[in-house]
Amino acid sequence: MIITRMKDHNCGELNLKNIDEEVTLSGWVSTIRDLGGILFIELRDRSGFFQLVANPQINPDVHKAFEKVRSEYVITVKGKVTRRPEETYNEKYPTGQVEMYPKSVEVLSEAKTLPFVLDDENVSEDVRLKYRYLDIRRESMKSKLILRHKIVQAVRNCLNNKDFLEVETPILIKTTPEGARDYLVPSRVQEGKFYALPQSPQIFKQLLMVGGIERYYQIAKCFRDEDLRADRQPEFTQIDLEMSFVEQQDVIKVVEDIIVDAFKAAGVEVNPPFIQMPWQEAMDRFGSDKPDTRFGLELFDIGDIILESNFDIVKNTLLNGGIVRGIKIPGGASYSRKDIDDITKLAVSFGAKALANIIYLEDGSAKSPVLKFVTEDQAKQIQERAGAKAGDIIFFVADKPKLVYDIMGRLRLHFGKSLNLIDESKHNLLWVVDFPMFEWSDEEGRYMAMHHPFTSPCIEDLDKLKSGDLGNVKSIAYDIVYNGTELGGGSVRIHSSQVQSEIFKALGLSEDEAKEKFGFMVNALQYGTPPHAGLAIGLDRLVALLARTDSIRDVIAFPKNSGAKDLMSDAPGEASLQQLRELHLKSTVKK
Ligand code: AMO
Ligand code: AMP
Repeated sequence: MIITRMKDHNCGELNLKNIDEEVTLSGWVSTIRDLGGILFIELRDRSGFFQLVANPQINPDVHKAFEKVRSEYVITVKGKVTRRPEETYNEKYPTGQVEMYPKSVEVLSEAKTLPFVLDDENVSEDVRLKYRYLDIRRESMKSKLILRHKIVQAVRNCLNNKDFLEVETPILIKTTPEGARDYLVPSRVQEGKFYALPQSPQIFKQLLMVGGIERYYQIAKCFRDEDLRADRQPEFTQIDLEMSFVEQQDVIKVVEDIIVDAFKAAGVEVNPPFIQMPWQEAMDRFGSDKPDTRFGLELFDIGDIILESNFDIVKNTLLNGGIVRGIKIPGGASYSRKDIDDITKLAVSFGAKALANIIYLEDGSAKSPVLKFVTEDQAKQIQERAGAKAGDIIFFVADKPKLVYDIMGRLRLHFGKSLNLIDESKHNLLWVVDFPMFEWSDEEGRYMAMHHPFTSPCIEDLDKLKSGDLGNVKSIAYDIVYNGTELGGGSVRIHSSQVQSEIFKALGLSEDEAKEKFGFMVNALQYGTPPHAGLAIGLDRLVALLARTDSIRDVIAFPKNSGAKDLMSDAPGEASLQQLRELHLKSTVKK
């Protein structure tokens, strides 16, 4: 620590080794108690707690001063570290065997009564966010910020040792192709023009590769105007990296090393290499491109059996490009009518038109509304496919593939949680690889890039790109998944301006549009571009998971709430008419 006139030791670091040392401590009065006329203060600083005692017989001046001290006052004290009477040892604190009868005390700052009691765990998040500076005084917030710091330092060390250069990229930029909505900043100097805030440093890190930097990283702020959830913030931080002269496996190796060090900083040991699971397999087995493999309940396909049956609605779905996937719930035959109705409602809320079920009874028979359409033998075949025993139930849905995967993936997670199947002590890390290059968007009526348009298609699939068979083009993209959360994603990039132009064309961007949006990028590719690849890890998600909290807000010092508001500063705020005028904007708000 830095020794100053006001503080030469940290509260939480004193112990029996310091007995008889004269020390100066500063911090906040965490609690003050009067026990039979003797005053006890728990003094708190970032490092922890230390007990101060004032006894009218021993240190009367300090006792007098302590009588005026209230919770959360900031004070500085001088005195000798002494051993506590053994019967008063407090095993809760590392400093629980020592204390001080200060010789002097100075109040550095008084405090109003706090709007909430710091260690009350039931304070609403809104109140905590409004007074975030007080919230940060709480042990649980402080320890998360310390963990975040440790993880960031571990990552920096790891990358520095691998010859990466930390380079900053701009915040006022044109636009990035990550697919979320941009935050726009109006230009005062260029009337009618706007900067966008970066959704990621994607283009710039690629341009750093063209610039010969070879290995770049940045702890980068990113901005995305999207609907917020517990694991999404409008501004968040990425561990962003890019490398030249590498292939997918090289990036994967570097990221595995980062993950090992970041997890180690949180006291967790993980052992790469992690499984690499093709995207199609992840979807088929788990209904998700970020599979939680801490529990089973894997999905199964009964399409071939249904096609032999008289189940016409589902058959038609299959014949029209649909798929059918099922899930088996062991012991589910005991579900009541209402239980099944509730599960069906849940599936409907996920977008299902219907959820079929078959119950396999103890007497070996099957019970189901769909037995009108499938024979007893087909019900048996389904039972075998599901690996269902007497006493189990299976559910299945048929529809378009994307919807079926989504519904069944979410149902699987629901059962995993509600049946307590998730082993919370597991740290399952895996790679999802071989992503499709494009994804059909019903909304836009066209194919969109599944990652971003600078992702390289698989070389073997270049013909499909030319022939317009976009649905079957795979990309060289990879995601790292931890216990069912996407921690990070990346790809090998296109380093040929010609392939880049073809991708823009496939995405429905005319040459002029592509030039207008990303022209500088396509130009750059023409001046000698090394093959390059990279990835970005969501730092907030990584820290939240390692801190074992559900919300990334808990690991961000000053986050926004779910309405994208900063409750403390009340941002976003209004702009004055003068400001709007300077920015050539008209207010739409009636005054
Ligand atoms: P991607 O968009 O997958 O990739 O983002 C990488 C990681 O960033 C995290 N993340 C978020 N975290 C909090 N709030 C958000 N709103 C949010 N959005 C994303 C996730 C995600 O896995 N430029 C590419 C990376 C690359 O190709 O190198 C990119 O940004 O953990
Ligand atoms: P109905 O003829 O509408 O009573 O449907 C007969 C059965 O087929 C019901 O049990 C439905 O749950 C089931 N069903 C209908 N459409 C689907 C579908 N797309 N996926 C799964 N089951 C379905």
